[in-house]
Amino acid sequence: EKGGWPSFMDKEIHEDPAAVADTLLGRFDEKGDIVLDEVRIEPDAFRSVDKIIVVACGTASYAGLVAKYAIEHWVRIPVEVELAHEFRYRDPILTPRTLVVAISQSGETMDTLMALRHAREQGSRVLAICNTQGATIPRESDAVLYTHAGPEIAVASTKAFVAQVTAAYLLGLYLAQVKGTMFRDEIHQVLDNLKAMPDKIQWVLDTQRESIERAAKRMLNAHSFLFLGRHVGYPVAMEGALKLKEIAYTFTEGFAAGELKHGPIALVDEGEPVVVIVPSARGRDTLHNKVISGIEEVKARGAYTIAVAEEGDPDAERYADIVFWRPACPTLLSPLVDVVPLQLFAMDMANLKGYDVDKPRNLAKSVTVE
Ligand code: BG6
Repeated sequence: EKGGWPSFMDKEIHEDPAAVADTLLGRFDEKGDIVLDEVRIEPDAFRSVDKIIVVACGTASYAGLVAKYAIEHWVRIPVEVELAHEFRYRDPILTPRTLVVAISQSGETMDTLMALRHAREQGSRVLAICNTQGATIPRESDAVLYTHAGPEIAVASTKAFVAQVTAAYLLGLYLAQVKGTMFRDEIHQVLDNLKAMPDKIQWVLDTQRESIERAAKRMLNAHSFLFLGRHVGYPVAMEGALKLKEIAYTFTEGFAAGELKHGPIALVDEGEPVVVIVPSARGRDTLHNKVISGIEEVKARGAYTIAVAEEGDPDAERYADIVFWRPACPTLLSPLVDVVPLQLFAMDMANLKGYDVDKPRNLAKSVTVE
């Protein structure tokens, strides 16, 4: 069933473009308006939503963090992201106008299920973003937006992540549409940009393999890795760190680049690998410049830097030791491409170390205990 691929993980990373494309399929009409009739929440109910709380665990929680940046920008309502296991123990503020979004690939994660039960008991609506038809989480939710990544077998989540992020964008655009917080043209524009993402992911898969493998070989004996990113690059850094930890058993820490000077820089020593998600250089906005100066700071302390950057970014080329390139795209959508080289990097590291990338030690694909 691996279809000729050496591992399920390899196969599934190569299905990232299809996971995005298939999740978009049938979710808009010929005019370019978002159609989510299948979720079964009345547009009026959506219109009244004044807060979103995402509950999820692991990779799904990082998809939720990407959703926060996009939905707050498009819909102008607060979005909180909470690890599902923390949620119900802290007396969260839930009202009938709160939409709780439970993100889960398997739809069986007990922590997430308990969080959504709590939210419903408190009178909030729950929408599940789930990859598994008919699983417990979608069955117990008021509504469901399925991701169409296809079955994910490898324990470390890859194609499900990009599908979850895509579904979250669709939810955000739909809310913007019913609430009128974006012009229709703007929604159509974002949708067009989203439709272009599968080809951009494919470009990364087609062109970056060699440099990623080279970097993995070079870094094979590293004891720890730091991953840093800013804005939507922050959840990508967290996810890249999680992948490497899960399957290559390397100690990693992912954090927001701005935190560097508030602590993590103390860890940087000669040869310490630091992976940096660099935002678009277009316009050389402050976001880009701040992240680049983060690279300079760690380099000045001897770090070995790997950048994930937009094709042709002269600063990434100049300051980073290795660059994994990705095509230009709007900042809010960039996690869909930025995460891909990090998925491949973690897989290469694990393979080179001789580990079973599909079945990492101590981990289960779906955790059905609290
Ligand atoms: C973990 C899995 O236990 O559960 C992770 O090993 C996953 O890969 C997390 O991200 C959440 O799983 P799910 O199915 O709820 O998305």
